[in-house]
Amino acid sequence: CGIVGYIGRRDVAPLLLEGLQRLEYRGYDSAGLVITGKAAAGRSSALKMVKAKGRVRELESRVPKRFAGTTGIAHTRWATHGAPSDHNAHPHLDQDNKVAVVHNGIIDNATELRVKLEADGVVFLSETDTEVLTHLIARSQAETLEEKVRQSLKLVEGTYGIAVLHADFADRIVVARNGSPVVLGIGEKEMFVASDVAALVSHTRQVVTLDDGEMATIKADDFRTYTTEGSRTSATPTTVEWEAESYDMGGHDTYMHKEISEQSDAVDRVLRGRIDDRFSTVHLGGLNLDAREARGVRRIKILGCGTSYHAGLIGAGLIESLARIPADAEPASEFRYRNPVVDPDTLYIAVSQSGETYDVLAAVQELKRKGARVLGVVNVVGSAIARETDGGVYVHAGPEVCVVSTKCFTNTVVAFALLALHLGRIRDLSVADGKRIIAGLRDLPAQITEILESEAEIKKVADEYADAKSMMFIGRVRGYPVALEASLKLKEISYIHAEAYPASELKHGPLALIEPALPTVAIVPDDDLLEKNRAAMEEIKARSGRILAVAHQEQPKADHTILVPKNEPELDPILMGIPLQLLAYHTALALGRDIDKPRNLAKSVTVE
Ligand code: G6P
Repeated sequence: CGIVGYIGRRDVAPLLLEGLQRLEYRGYDSAGLVITGKAAAGRSSALKMVKAKGRVRELESRVPKRFAGTTGIAHTRWATHGAPSDHNAHPHLDQDNKVAVVHNGIIDNATELRVKLEADGVVFLSETDTEVLTHLIARSQAETLEEKVRQSLKLVEGTYGIAVLHADFADRIVVARNGSPVVLGIGEKEMFVASDVAALVSHTRQVVTLDDGEMATIKADDFRTYTTEGSRTSATPTTVEWEAESYDMGGHDTYMHKEISEQSDAVDRVLRGRIDDRFSTVHLGGLNLDAREARGVRRIKILGCGTSYHAGLIGAGLIESLARIPADAEPASEFRYRNPVVDPDTLYIAVSQSGETYDVLAAVQELKRKGARVLGVVNVVGSAIARETDGGVYVHAGPEVCVVSTKCFTNTVVAFALLALHLGRIRDLSVADGKRIIAGLRDLPAQITEILESEAEIKKVADEYADAKSMMFIGRVRGYPVALEASLKLKEISYIHAEAYPASELKHGPLALIEPALPTVAIVPDDDLLEKNRAAMEEIKARSGRILAVAHQEQPKADHTILVPKNEPELDPILMGIPLQLLAYHTALALGRDIDKPRNLAKSVTVE
């Protein structure tokens, strides 16, 4: 979900709508905004609210012509409690229309609190967990808004990023954070608040990121931060590096297409300034792991969710082959619930584009509590996971807006290649192999450009396969995580069922599915497993299955081959994934899907 708020002198509704539009990728099943109206002399100002199920443009069409005000908060939602509807959209107001709350996160004891409030005569208007907070704040007898919010937060358990507006305290917005991001934007006689810098950067670059357990009061020309216990905290604004233009579509029809097209530049960025030719290694300034510590690492465990988990799987393979350290990846969401053995000689790595995914953050926090060393491979600078980890590698993909990840996936894998090379050169990777991998890394940007040039051909193939009800993706060893990611991409945006399987396992089950109506995408690099992969394709062909191969050379058994330039075997998975992003993209386009905002999903899942 996304939060945005403003207090200043400008007309607030258009500012809030613009902010919501920039945050829409975080959730898009309903949206709403509330503003404080003009107060008659001696009276408190009234709150005016508009909400709508659906997209921000739906909300925009409902905002009345005369909707003047200079203070307001707004929200775009990804439903957890209660179906998407006008009622369940945020903000939530109390019965007297005095208090408005927007909230990201989940209040775990909402049901219990709701029962108590209802017993006291409170009538609820929605099924959301958030509404309890509104009533708690409205019923608080405390004198200041800050104190009302603080008292109410003491009663709730769970995670939140909230912004609160109160008609009797119309000169301020009070915000609080526990597990869900809140960023203040510091302007000239105006202040912003948002769950993400994306909503702020077109207005100000000066931001203050709240910590968990921190609150803030923003007024038009002033802000202060303090803990939920009430003691002041120091908050020095920092400057955001990303340009506002990075959030624009730049002539593409979708963010996904824009982000796929940016990959050559993005890879260039993750490499920039890090390669050390003299010692055939790389410098990773933020790693915070010296050579002696690196030599002491016995295992590496990589944790992430969704696409980042898949990047972690390729990363684990890179670390094993280049650094010869046993490594594996696991979904963070599974890891944290199985009471894992935390081993002091294991290095843990959390992977996340947003740096906010709650399951990953919670896994990091649990690991740290148990004394583990945790590094981050993260895109968003200064995000919660970046701050919670002991060090790490920034991915430098730039802002990624499309809900499904493409350029950040590629850059994350490249960041892992850098880490693997670094660890390898500290342990026993030879100078020659170091040089070989560095040369391969340097070739990536141009090779990516070459792949992107074959888009028209990939589109043709996509159009041909778009009528499939289901698709199989196969690959071996390094190719298997590529298959996993390609199948995820296809199902996320085209809604075609897709399944990824190790090619070696085909004959142990999924071969039963093969028939002309179930096409297979095979990842077939020219490596030592080429013959094995060809054998798998034979097995499919013998059952009349259609095959699309992604390969370094024409595959006679395949109905179509998408050719990809060859790099070093360790780095080939990076390139082989790219045409399959385009395959998913053009399939979804042929089916008329909403590519940047696939149904039921959100980009940053800040809840469990
Ligand atoms: C969500 C998104 C996925 C993403 C995953 C992890 O589920 O829809 O595209 O891969 O979160 O996100 P992260 O920001 O941690 O990489």
